[in-house]
Amino acid sequence: MCGIFGYVGKDRDVAGLVLDGLKRLEYRGYDSWGVAVVTDEGINLTKQVGKIGDAQVNMPDSFLGFGHTRWATHGGVTDYNAHPHLDCTGRIAVIHNGIIENFSELRNKLLSQGHKLRSETDTEVVAHLLEEETKGLGSDPAGFADALRRVFMQLEGMNAVMALDSSSGVMVAAKNGSPLVLGYGEDGYYISSDASALLPHTRKVAFIADGQMLLITREGVSARDIQTGDPASLEVSQLEWSLEQAELGDYPHYLIKEIHEQPSILRSIAMTQGENATTLAEMMRASYGTFFIGCGTAANAALTGQYLFSRIARFHVNFAVGSEFGYLEHFLTPQSLVIALSQSGETIDVIEPLIKAKKEKGVQVAALVNVLGSTLYRMADFSVLLGAGPEKCVLATKSYTAKLAVLLMTAYALDGRLDEGKELVLRAADGVEELLRDGIRDKVEALAERIYDREHIFLIGRGLSYSSALEAALKIKEVTYIHAEGFAGGELKHGVIALIEQGTPCIVFAPSDETQAAILSGAQELKARGGFIIGISPKCSDVFDYWIPVADVGDASPIVNAVPAQLLAYCLSIKRGTDPDKPRNLAKSVTVK
Ligand code: F6R
Repeated sequence: MCGIFGYVGKDRDVAGLVLDGLKRLEYRGYDSWGVAVVTDEGINLTKQVGKIGDAQVNMPDSFLGFGHTRWATHGGVTDYNAHPHLDCTGRIAVIHNGIIENFSELRNKLLSQGHKLRSETDTEVVAHLLEEETKGLGSDPAGFADALRRVFMQLEGMNAVMALDSSSGVMVAAKNGSPLVLGYGEDGYYISSDASALLPHTRKVAFIADGQMLLITREGVSARDIQTGDPASLEVSQLEWSLEQAELGDYPHYLIKEIHEQPSILRSIAMTQGENATTLAEMMRASYGTFFIGCGTAANAALTGQYLFSRIARFHVNFAVGSEFGYLEHFLTPQSLVIALSQSGETIDVIEPLIKAKKEKGVQVAALVNVLGSTLYRMADFSVLLGAGPEKCVLATKSYTAKLAVLLMTAYALDGRLDEGKELVLRAADGVEELLRDGIRDKVEALAERIYDREHIFLIGRGLSYSSALEAALKIKEVTYIHAEGFAGGELKHGVIALIEQGTPCIVFAPSDETQAAILSGAQELKARGGFIIGISPKCSDVFDYWIPVADVGDASPIVNAVPAQLLAYCLSIKRGTDPDKPRNLAKSVTVK
């Protein structure tokens, strides 16, 4: 949530470079954006409301600058509330990701000291607190860093803050929550909320740990512990992602690009994740109670996992959405294993209860995560890197099917049949490829044409397909703004059926498993009330008004089921003229509560 990008190095068009970085991070927030660079005359600032799109900036050359793309928390979407924020003197600029929980108190104190705050944001207090802490300091990079350290310790909440000082030509950063990655370029240092934005410049990076701060000048970079001020070490890693993976290539949108990447990702998981699946299975076997947690799409993957482990390995897994897990922690013990699922590895609703469960109950933590060096990746006792490559579209697609594939293999590994699990993932990869190759897009486009102006879409599935219905509904609603609701097939009769009218689109997941007969009779009941029945199934049925055939892949059905729904969400979005990559009100990586 919110993207941060900064540079310190050679004299050049730093504003243009920062803007390019922000464009790569825009999926983290796109309400407004801003850039600040340091010049001989002080700080030069541009900021405005709206998506960056093709924006250009005309700002003086510099050796030092940063920018921010915002997902609003405190204060509406206005030019004033866009970051960076300046202090009263205009010497200091600040950008921020997170929520400063005690900002009202700090703001009132600053107002009583005579500070004039121009925005409604929590961030602006940091610029003014820095102004207080640096009075009479002059040009002293280390002194400025120390001032940020003192200010940061006054802030409550989980935050990443960066500040520029035009007097001493220094950029400082401190964090105890939101992600920051340092990039070592040939011509200078880069800093970003997300490693993928560093790829055009470098693959050599260091992930900043919580409780660490950085002081960056042209001469070098140093890290310190925020609490003690003592020097801290930076662990350098090499990014494996390529620049192409993070770019659109010939595709018009990341959503469709990432949907199309799924077959090769699934194949690579089948080939490379066997050992991880075995380790995870061993951890589960050794635990006394396993819990899956995740949010949104990751929660849907976790719920699928619960069913997979039950049917394949006869193993019970407890499931909770991340934001509720904190209320279910009473019976955790040091023998409990919590497996957190998260694409970004930064989702606060997952991280926060995990920190508590680790600290207070001493649980073991494993992670299924897509981003190397992310908070979850680092805090877990064992992390499985999904290897889905950078996911830039706000909608999770390839990270979802990647999680399903790893869970499927782990369930088979737990039952001593890993090779069968791998085989199924390969079959699912073929099934997804067939779907993407064999004209299914035309079929889905024709369906979108038929239902794009409907107010409601209902989706049902049973057993393994229950979570498919939830996930498909989430995909459709977040990018089309149509009300779409997924249900367990058996639940409809208990209330929701009252909403079915003549022509209401009802999507029915009917794989060739033990749920098929019951879900088809549920479909009959919907049809009898006027529902327009869209079947996603390996077999056609008389009850379907519209049929989208998918491969019969046994326990891997949730993987192939996901794809027509992803495509439908995409086609509906195009038809309705919404932005498939950046839906309204959303942002990738939810790092605030
Ligand atoms: C939906 C979507 C979100 C995320 C959720 C968790 O398409 O992208 O629901 O799945 O915010 O994000 P991660 O997986 O990064 O923890």
